[in-house]
Amino acid sequence: MATKTFRLANGGGPLSLTPKYILPQEKRPTLSEISILASIPIIDLKEPSALVVEQISKACEEYGFFQIINHGIPVELCDKTMAVITDFFELPPEEKAPFFSTDLTKQVKLFNYFVKDGSQNKVSMWSECFSHPWHPLDDIIHLLPQNPPQYREVVAEYAKEIGVLMKRLLSLISQGLGLEKDCLEKKLGEKPILRAQGNYYPPCPDPELTLGLNVHTDLNALTIVSQTEGVTGLQVIKDGKWVAVESIPNAFVINLGDQIQVLSNGRYKSVHHRAVTNKTLKRVSLATFYAPSRDAIIGPIEDLIDEQHPAVYRKFHYSEFLDEFYKQEGTRRMVKEIFELKY
Ligand code: OGA
Ligand code: NI
Repeated sequence: MATKTFRLANGGGPLSLTPKYILPQEKRPTLSEISILASIPIIDLKEPSALVVEQISKACEEYGFFQIINHGIPVELCDKTMAVITDFFELPPEEKAPFFSTDLTKQVKLFNYFVKDGSQNKVSMWSECFSHPWHPLDDIIHLLPQNPPQYREVVAEYAKEIGVLMKRLLSLISQGLGLEKDCLEKKLGEKPILRAQGNYYPPCPDPELTLGLNVHTDLNALTIVSQTEGVTGLQVIKDGKWVAVESIPNAFVINLGDQIQVLSNGRYKSVHHRAVTNKTLKRVSLATFYAPSRDAIIGPIEDLIDEQHPAVYRKFHYSEFLDEFYKQEGTRRMVKEIFELKY
């Protein structure tokens, strides 16, 4: 199959596997070691709610990741959303270029991730990412792409549905921890930071040499990911081994971020994950994030602390966590470790 050439907003001619994309040996993915036997749990939200709570709780303890089916968001809307995101990434580079920015504080931005190698040189990830808020949208809607023409309308409709699903998941996760349904939502504050990030991974001539997205944990509280049907790429750590997340139709991948690990006093896990590339197929994912208000105070929830379970983290304002995160940009991400209490 002939692969279409892909052009990044940030640079030159057709994308090719030049040295700037080649990772040092120890950071490469070693794809032969990926376990194909294991996968993350798949949870049917149409099952009775007590069962769903129990399954989600187990998944949050053991994997930090799960997939949901029968989640209530119409398939056509999910498909339309993935289509507008994909069309945006596939615009000619000069049309995407105005969105490109290396300014981390920009509300709407197209960018490339990098990692630093042993000599502090930047190695680019084999991907392009587009990030903007998904709620509230009114203040920034005029900053979103006008091409493809349906982008704003479709993303706004999708965001509404995601808002409902986020609240439902936070409630199910709260119940799994034995807390009131609205406990986590309240702890995360009244002005949660709600951002969406599209990730575009073009086919890569040699997926052994690069990564689409470097190993990381999500720093927010909760993430909902929609991904191209039929193409795998997301991998998560389970018992020290990389496990590929299957691509199943009409499902969302859900993962916990660092803030829920802290709030649950370490009972629920924010797990390391990465995206690998594919030799012949492009892959697109859309992550929607739910993060605390900047001024929210995050720390182990009191009801979850007792003699057997002393607090593992100190309390902090979410803004402190963000500052630490930006300080570590491009290097080893060990953000929540900074807030651990040592006995
Ligand atoms: C992310 C992420 C995974 C994917 O955006 O934080 O982990 O499948 N994305 O692209
Ligand atoms: Ni992630």
